[in-house]
Amino acid sequence: MYPIQRNRRLRTNDSIRVLVRETTISTDDFIFPMFIAEGKDVKVEIPSMPGIYRRSLDLTVKEVKELWDLGIKAVNIYVKVSDDLKDNTGKEAWNPDGLMQQSIKAIKDAVPGMIVMPDVALDPYSIYGHDGIIENGYVVNDATVDALTRMSVSHADAGADFVAPSDMMDGRVYAIRKALEETGHHNVGIMSYSAKYASSFYGPFRDALDSAPKESGVPVPKDKKTYQMDYANRTEAVKEALQDVEEGADMVMVKPGLAYLDIVREVKNAVNVPVSVFHVSGEYAMVKAAAEKGWLDHDKIMLEQLHCIKRAGADLISTYFAKEAAILLNK
Ligand code: PBG
Repeated sequence: MYPIQRNRRLRTNDSIRVLVRETTISTDDFIFPMFIAEGKDVKVEIPSMPGIYRRSLDLTVKEVKELWDLGIKAVNIYVKVSDDLKDNTGKEAWNPDGLMQQSIKAIKDAVPGMIVMPDVALDPYSIYGHDGIIENGYVVNDATVDALTRMSVSHADAGADFVAPSDMMDGRVYAIRKALEETGHHNVGIMSYSAKYASSFYGPFRDALDSAPKESGVPVPKDKKTYQMDYANRTEAVKEALQDVEEGADMVMVKPGLAYLDIVREVKNAVNVPVSVFHVSGEYAMVKAAAEKGWLDHDKIMLEQLHCIKRAGADLISTYFAKEAAILLNK
């Protein structure tokens, strides 16, 4: 009660503010998402994501070394494959010599300590840009899970530390866990995109991989709403996360980030595994665009957002800001 309690006492100067600060962020919290392209010496900036590039593997490895030196300990990797490798089965996804498998190997060889988490979903390999196999205009669940299981084992064979299923099919975590156990990959973990919403915040990511849903001759769903969650729902996120833990997820993820921090807290309170949050491409693009116009202070907004995501309950944050934030935090 005032004046016995004057709350501003704990805000009088920077030292006391730091001493009572509840949430801190460091490079230990970050996962850096990276886009990998075919070829050599390729570095193409994603127009809707200034500062983020699609790199060929040689330049990716160079960048991963830099990230490691900055203190970043994990990367999510995504590949852009050429159109002639795409079909409706996704079979290129488990090609042992595919771009993803080569990338996992090359990164682990160059920086063994870096935790490599390849994305598991069929969209980069699908002629329709969907995360699964399409039959009669519907993304079918169980056949897709079989494909994702093969894909995951091939990632593990290539040396992945974790696989990160981002597809939102039912039962895929259990099927993947079972297959990893059967193939001797006991220590390959699963970071499951558990509460992944059908969100328009993924637009720039789909530009980066050229993976937006598209018709390609036959009618297919123009969005991912039959598998990704409805942004109006909260209870369902808890259900998804609990189910994934039961099925063998070592970590669960909520995605997108900032507009979904109520979900992050809800999931954090419900599960007993680390919660990661994907601060997605559209969120990154918004900050870059506003900063370019001089409407927001880029670095301050970036650090505020990362703190807020952590405060909401994130144990890990997958963010395109990881490198820039690491540079700032290391100063
Ligand atoms: C693919 C995938 C997507 C993202 C991560 N994995 C796109 C999608 O589901 O359409 C989005 C990441 C981002 O926007 O930064 N399944």
